[in-house]
Amino acid sequence: MAHHWNPCTYLPRRLQIVASLTTFLLICLLFFGTSPADDPTTYVNHVPFGPELRAGAHQVVDKLPSIPKVPYMAPPQWLNPFGDQAHTPPPEQTNSSSGEARWYADFKWRNPFSSSTTLDEERAVLPPLAERPRVYTYFDSVGRRKDEKSKEAEQELLQVWRRAWWAQGFKPVVLGKAEAMNNPLYRAVQGLELEEEMETEMMRWLAWGNMGTGILANWLAVPMAAYDDTMLSFLRRGEYPLLTRYEGLGTGLFVGNKISIEKTLKEAISNPQINTTRSLIETASLDTFLIEDKHAAIAFYSTSTLKEKYPLLKTKLEQTTTIPDALTLLPRLINAHLHSTWQNTFSSGISVLKPAPEHTTTLLLPAVELARNLSQCADSPIPASCPPNRPKCKPCVSSSHLPITVQTVFRNTTTLFTIGTVPHPYTLLSLLHSRDDLNVKFIRRETDRDLWTLAATKELIGNGQSSFFRLPALKDAVASEFGRARSLWFTAERPPRSESEKDLEELDWWFGFEIPRHPLDDGKSVTPVPGPERRPPPPKDEFGDSPPPSDADLVKEKALFEKSLMFMQRAGRGGVGGAKGGKKNTGGEKDLVRTRDMVEAWNLADTEIWKFVRAWNARGRVERRGWEEEEEGFGGSRGRWGSRVGSRFEEPKVLNGAALWPMVLSM
Ligand SMILES: *[C@@H]1O[C@H](CO)[C@@H](O)[C@H](O)[C@H]1NC(C)=O
Ligand SMILES: *[C@@H]1O[C@H](CO)[C@@H](O)[C@H](O)[C@H]1NC(C)=O
Ligand SMILES: *[C@@H]1O[C@H](CO)[C@@H](O)[C@H](O)[C@H]1NC(C)=O
Ligand SMILES: *[C@@H]1O[C@H](CO)[C@@H](O)[C@H](O)[C@H]1NC(C)=O
Repeated sequence: MAHHWNPCTYLPRRLQIVASLTTFLLICLLFFGTSPADDPTTYVNHVPFGPELRAGAHQVVDKLPSIPKVPYMAPPQWLNPFGDQAHTPPPEQTNSSSGEARWYADFKWRNPFSSSTTLDEERAVLPPLAERPRVYTYFDSVGRRKDEKSKEAEQELLQVWRRAWWAQGFKPVVLGKAEAMNNPLYRAVQGLELEEEMETEMMRWLAWGNMGTGILANWLAVPMAAYDDTMLSFLRRGEYPLLTRYEGLGTGLFVGNKISIEKTLKEAISNPQINTTRSLIETASLDTFLIEDKHAAIAFYSTSTLKEKYPLLKTKLEQTTTIPDALTLLPRLINAHLHSTWQNTFSSGISVLKPAPEHTTTLLLPAVELARNLSQCADSPIPASCPPNRPKCKPCVSSSHLPITVQTVFRNTTTLFTIGTVPHPYTLLSLLHSRDDLNVKFIRRETDRDLWTLAATKELIGNGQSSFFRLPALKDAVASEFGRARSLWFTAERPPRSESEKDLEELDWWFGFEIPRHPLDDGKSVTPVPGPERRPPPPKDEFGDSPPPSDADLVKEKALFEKSLMFMQRAGRGGVGGAKGGKKNTGGEKDLVRTRDMVEAWNLADTEIWKFVRAWNARGRVERRGWEEEEEGFGGSRGRWGSRVGSRFEEPKVLNGAALWPMVLSM
């Protein structure tokens, strides 16, 4: 009898069936599986990534009965012969979780699906955390003014300084006497008889030299430019081969490395004329500093600049008794300048993203609220003034607010700031279909997949591409250097809450200035241009193209949204960056977790971007908190949390739409 070449014939009949099914499945997966290529473009070239794939992959999902997504998600990675040989999930990195959000920093973050790298549904792949170069300032309370008013203003100014530098990607550190005394050269400086100004200058340099390579800024020198300004980009690179000072900024800003700082200090100490000079610029030999003259990113509010540019301050600064008054005005002035610089950068205005316009108005309330506050004019003691480094700025006037638009698609425009709100697919489907009892049957029969992702990228990617193909672009919009400078994203379930001081402060650190959060029509400040009110109204097209929802609709939406939040919490998606835990599905109720998994498997792309944004924000918070703790250790910062900026703005609790979210989310 002739042999068949089919090896299956040797197997029992049942196994034959299993074997052929398996082979079929493997082939499917091989062809439709993900490629591990880093670059989204090669990714596209390698894989048939059209709508057929989406259909194909989804069919696989459909055929699998109750745990739909695991078999589809994981295998392509280890079946792909050209892929990583990683059979085990990558190790946990330090500080890579917060509440239920977990992440893994890797260069493969642009790949559509994180789980192809982490082999774990719950760990999102984020871009590697950019190293923040340190920017130092020296602040010694001993030599400073003693009156309460000045002291408080100085603390506020330090906070303004920290916030502005942090938002531009730096790690601001306030040094004090302790750091200066730590420098081995300190004793040598002690032996010199110096003028008071020079003494402070030497202490600054000693403290800087003790820390090493970095930026030394006066605490009245803040970055006042777009995030991707060339000078800021250079400073962010963190490599300063040459000791550099900046034309026009005097001693306001230096950059350099440890060796050159030390050399310059030694040179100054051995200079016999040191007791007649006032700065190291004078004691240094000519070739010590590279002098950069093309720059405009730093605003230095030195006394001479203040006197020259702002007559109001000039009169106050000329009399000793009114100097504290001048100091008191300064934090608000700088804050207003930072805000208007931001507004000038985004001249096209603010876009509030609303890809699924129907029945989702409730989800957008926090974004609209934030957009309105951002487009408002900041409270300034010298309204309509320009920062010292941008004499040609366009000051904020209440008659022409920054436009706010509600857009159904993401637009990649350089001068447009986007506020994106990403709902969990459960929330979205529940609101869209006005149902609080989503079940497997309904989801499969009645709902479209990955609605949000498809709609949001319609203009960017065009029609006819799969939702998977769209993910890299969306991730790029959130987390690339270009994207992060022009957008802010949060999940609909965990927006910045208006009633949480912590959340609002977190936003201030993101933007680099204190966002106005009280209406300015109290007659206290003089409005440069008369207007009925300064806070802009909600955008006209708030409801996208669809007719505006009635009050009854809104009530219904809110009720549904609250139910959805409740569901999410019970299904183990509640502590969105809040609750303790972090193990998969902790505390989730089994049936609800099943429904949740089903919804997530049905909407792989929407779920992916939701988890990505959740992790992105959680990491941002973890990073900042970590720095706050670290900075407490430096001399100039001790006890700083005693007098905080912002405490001025005590205001009655306003109950608005965003008061819906108090519950769950404690972080
Ligand atoms: C500076 O110091 C030198 C020697 O250390 C001294 O001779 C000179 O008088 C001092 N000058 C001033 C202005 O104090
Ligand atoms: C947006 O445009 C910039 C350049 O203009 C590009 O580098 C970036 O990748 C684009 N972002 C997206 C999400 O397409
Ligand atoms: C926006 O401003 C209002 C008051 O005008 C304030 O209640 C609210 O907390 C602010 N929200 C944000 C996100 O800044
Ligand atoms: C992790 O976080 C803790 C506390 O916030 C901090 O002390 C520690 O330095 C962090 N570790 C890393 C590697 O960032």
